[in-house]
Amino acid sequence: MTATLLVDIGLLATQDAELGEIRDAAIILDGPRISWVGPVASAPDADERVGLGGKTVIPGFVDSHAHLVFVGDRSEEFVARMRGMPYAAGGIRVTVANTRGAPDALLRLNVERLAGELLRAGVTTFECKSGYGLDVATEERSLRVAAEFTPETTFLGAHVVPPDTPRDEYVSLVCSEMLDACAPHARWIDVFCEQGAFDVDESRAVLQAGIARGLGARVHANQLSAGPGVQLAVSLDAASADHCTHLSDADVDALAGSSTVATLLPLAEFSTRSPYPDARRLLDAGVTVALATDCNPGSAYSTSMPLAIALAVREMAMTPAEAVRAATVGGATALRRNDLGVIAPGRGADLIVLDAPSYVHLAYRPGVPLISQVWQGGKRVA
Ligand code: NIG
Ligand code: FE
Repeated sequence: MTATLLVDIGLLATQDAELGEIRDAAIILDGPRISWVGPVASAPDADERVGLGGKTVIPGFVDSHAHLVFVGDRSEEFVARMRGMPYAAGGIRVTVANTRGAPDALLRLNVERLAGELLRAGVTTFECKSGYGLDVATEERSLRVAAEFTPETTFLGAHVVPPDTPRDEYVSLVCSEMLDACAPHARWIDVFCEQGAFDVDESRAVLQAGIARGLGARVHANQLSAGPGVQLAVSLDAASADHCTHLSDADVDALAGSSTVATLLPLAEFSTRSPYPDARRLLDAGVTVALATDCNPGSAYSTSMPLAIALAVREMAMTPAEAVRAATVGGATALRRNDLGVIAPGRGADLIVLDAPSYVHLAYRPGVPLISQVWQGGKRVA
């Protein structure tokens, strides 16, 4: 028998459709799970009690898009970009050169370091992509290492075509030998459908090969141009179309009529000095929106979900409530995980304690370290 723990909270934003937001709330934890949620005045007895009056509790963030298996950085590219160089898909090859030469131990250290940053930023579940190996051995190692840290692993062999390889040969390799080596360590398959990366036919072939192997689909779509990625994602019932920066009305309609989540990654627009996606247009059309970090050494070297939330509110016309929702239950939906992103009886106790009277302060006080505690599976981990 585990001891039950009553947590007494100033404002609880459950993200559960029925429970909503509760002031002067309590939750009761029974081991790794939440057993009760409601007003503190009507809480049942528990063995122990923790007082968080004046503080806000939200679910742990679910980061549904991150590229953490790599070595080295691209700070020079960032400096050049801030002086006016545009971002292009080809920068990925610089990181590939570093990553291929790194032993597993170095890849593991990098994922461990960034997973630690994510946890301290309130992320209790994250997705992790390969995509900086672009050969069979390095893609396989990348996913094996990623799977040590998260069940949400994504094979992104189709990130760009590596140097000195004919494109059709590379696409065939991704769909056959590379997929065979990677599928046992991956839950998802992703493709960068973009000018300078993969066209729609190549992207479809890669995704269909992954789906045939039992992987779920996700797509880097419409990041740098209004291409065919979103339509492709919807046509294959992908869990998520990610970036969605340049969308036509038909793209928005397609997303609205689908179960494909639009995952917005404002840290990429911030770090590439690009126009932000129009979250308001998507939300008003009824599209499910997720916010994720996109943490990677090229376009968004940040693990800060709070900064992504602040940008979503300041630059993308999301309300603070919508932004927190997108970073929690939105991310869970993008990973098709209905067990995450919500505080409710029966769910895992993944929680963020904010040293603030409301989650609004995540956007209102940008850059301020408001996360005072992170709980994962009923245990305080940060
Ligand atoms: O999501 N767009 C493709 N992949 C990453 C960038 C990768 C890189 O530049 O290293 C992204 O932005
Ligand atoms: Fe990405």
